[in-house]
Amino acid sequence: MQSRYFTINDYPKGTPSRDLFELHSRELPPLGDGEVRIRNTWLSVDPYMRGRMSGVTTYIDPFELNAPLEGAAVGEVTASRDARFAEGDKVRHMGGWRDIAQLPGDMLEPLPGIEVPEQAYLGVLGMPGMTAWTGLNRIAEMRDGDNVLVSAAGGAVGSLAVQLAKAKGGKVVGIAGAADKLEWLEQHGITAVNYRGRSADELSQALKEACPEGFDVYYENVGGDCLEAALNNLKVGARIAVCGMIARYNAEAPQPGPSNLAMILIRRAKMQGFIVFDHWDEYSRFLDEVGPQVAKGEIDYQETVESGLESAPDAFLKLFEGANHGKMLVKL
Ligand SMILES: NC(=O)c1ccc[n+]([C@@H]2O[C@H](COP(=O)([O-])OP(=O)(O)OC[C@H]3O[C@@H](n4cnc5c(N)ncnc54)[C@H](OP(=O)(O)O)[C@@H]3O)[C@@H](O)[C@H]2O)c1
Repeated sequence: MQSRYFTINDYPKGTPSRDLFELHSRELPPLGDGEVRIRNTWLSVDPYMRGRMSGVTTYIDPFELNAPLEGAAVGEVTASRDARFAEGDKVRHMGGWRDIAQLPGDMLEPLPGIEVPEQAYLGVLGMPGMTAWTGLNRIAEMRDGDNVLVSAAGGAVGSLAVQLAKAKGGKVVGIAGAADKLEWLEQHGITAVNYRGRSADELSQALKEACPEGFDVYYENVGGDCLEAALNNLKVGARIAVCGMIARYNAEAPQPGPSNLAMILIRRAKMQGFIVFDHWDEYSRFLDEVGPQVAKGEIDYQETVESGLESAPDAFLKLFEGANHGKMLVKL
């Protein structure tokens, strides 16, 4: 049985080029005791993978050069030497960036039983959805009636964050770039603010016009000018959940911090970063709460789907161009 998989051949500086990614094929060894073979059906590409391409250990190790890349995937078991998994089972695991994965059974989890398309477990009911829920509820401690600002609001994390925030009854403002995302936000009762072509001061002014009374919560996905503009628009006692800073992931040199960090002091605000995996013990609570709403169609989730294993690098690189609406996925 052949497995086709992607590797990277270098740790890039700046925006990675398509040439970084190499597609290989190899014969898989016979299934060892406790191992499971999976035919992947959906692969996830996520912004955090850029950090793993930097060669530096952060909260997670870097990808190994010239070794199969890793990432979340959903697939079907085709052979198993682990009594917990049988042929035909649907599972989620980290053996993505490849078509056939062969992993110890301990590295697999059965898909939860909520009636949603299986790829939803990589998006709205997977790591990105859990991230949105965790950042709002556990980190920002969002309360009923809070005014909430979300950056990268049309993406996988942001598009659930704005809907969860909206359900709490306050004013919700979403920052996004692509026109279809701005339109989608407005259709869902979210005030959409375009960051493209605006300086930090101009963005700050646009946020003031969108929500003159200021924000109780800022859900930070972007950093840079978005953070600077958000800091100018906090209410006293605001909470900032720092989820990501995608504007900096491809930076070639250290970037200056926001010039107005003193607003944290002036507005007596709290700012806390978090990594979703530290909160995974709450995943079943998240599923109980959000899963039924997704299954009933009360939460709208978008997907951008690229087809075929070969498209995985392009799908990944498009995250940094804003080409995805909602979760970026690769369908095999
Ligand atoms: N802390 C955690 O545990 C955790 C877990 C998951 C994700 N995250 C972080 O959460 C953020 C969102 O992740 P996601 O998976 O939902 O990705 P995503 O929002 O679906 O995709 C990335 C989006 O970011 C926007 N973007 C890209 N470059 C930008 C820039 N320079 N300035 C402003 N916006 C830019 C683009 O949308 P536009 O059209 O709006 O430009 C793009 O579509 C990322 O920062 C990610 O690293 C953190």
